[in-house]
Amino acid sequence: MDIRLENVSMVFNGVTAVNQVTTTIKEGELVSLLGPSGCGKSTMLMLLSGLYQPSSGSIYFGDKNVTKVEAEKRGIGMVFQNYALYPHLSVLKNIMFPLKMQKVPKQEALERAMDMARLVQIDHLVDRKPGQLSGGQQQRVAIARALVKKPKLLLLDEPLSNLDARLRLEMREEIRRIQQEVGITAVFVTHDQEEALSISDRVMLMKDGIIQQDSHPQEMYRNPVNEFVAKFLGNPPINVLQASFVANEWKVGEHSISFTDTLQQLHIGIRPEDFYLEEESSAFLRGRVTHIETIGRDTLLRLDCGKESVRALVDPEANLHVDDIVHLGVKQDKVLYFNGETGERVLSGKERSYHLGIETDMEKHA
Ligand SMILES: Nc1ncnc2c1ncn2[C@@H]1O[C@H](COP(=O)(O)OP(=O)(O)O)[C@@H](O)[C@H]1O
Ligand SMILES: [Mg+2]
Repeated sequence: MDIRLENVSMVFNGVTAVNQVTTTIKEGELVSLLGPSGCGKSTMLMLLSGLYQPSSGSIYFGDKNVTKVEAEKRGIGMVFQNYALYPHLSVLKNIMFPLKMQKVPKQEALERAMDMARLVQIDHLVDRKPGQLSGGQQQRVAIARALVKKPKLLLLDEPLSNLDARLRLEMREEIRRIQQEVGITAVFVTHDQEEALSISDRVMLMKDGIIQQDSHPQEMYRNPVNEFVAKFLGNPPINVLQASFVANEWKVGEHSISFTDTLQQLHIGIRPEDFYLEEESSAFLRGRVTHIETIGRDTLLRLDCGKESVRALVDPEANLHVDDIVHLGVKQDKVLYFNGETGERVLSGKERSYHLGIETDMEKHA
């Protein structure tokens, strides 16, 4: 069963929380809703769940228009940041609770709850009270409780936000495993780009209630549609340099750029990993090292390049020090161009001919 949203909007006394969203979530897919706080992620989940009805637009589960169908009848499982477990009930009774509400016979409810406890790997803890569990274990209980009704759609609203960094990593792998084992369609809300990129089949990145881009995680990282998307993804973040138009060509510092469009402002996006240490003669940028951070297998340099400050990930073997002068080359095919006024991505002439399947003269002669 695919889930389809058609021109869905939600307005709260003048505030448009969700703005004309049209998208399809395919059966069995895990889709992340990503974006900064206040961009409308939770409102989207509430609309999918039926706890809110949209101000306009329609929601379909398969062929059925469910826009006016109430939450209890949609077959939804929900998991929240704060677990929302019943503290006075045992883990097993917590998981069984939704079945009790549905008046499922006790023996069957017990068996189904135990199946879920095994699925989320807390079957050895079912007699405990939630207060006797770690945060990660409590979240496992909440997931088991959400799945025990065999919902058609699992909605998770920042489920990992209350966990420490290591548990967050472990639980996001677990959520992916459980989602795939059950084969359930899931929508996972997070403001953490790394979480979204790592866990999902597809990411929808929102800003001010509008979906900016809806694509495969790696595609979004490599081919962002605008500067907002480019900046929201990636840690350390992408460098955005201002080009200047001098003597009929675009330049960054002294370096000419093979970009020929006429624009008022040109921004150049380069991810830190797309720089490399280079000989002075053919370098793209020259800068003075202001910070060095070695984190595991990466060395992150912060460089003062005159007008610009730049982050570059380089070979940790290069024996560099603060105040060293460094020359950077750039992987040309990874450079992103943005219209500085609108933030929209602009394809360079070369990228355009590539998309059209035309070889440029330059490439022919290379
Ligand atoms: N029940 C509500 N009443 C009024 N405004 C709301 C309500 N829920 C959300 N909003 C507003 O809608 C916008 C989106 O909120 P929300 O969906 O909670 O964002 P997110 O989950 O991405 O942080 C915000 O401006 C928020 O203040
Ligand atoms: Mg929220």
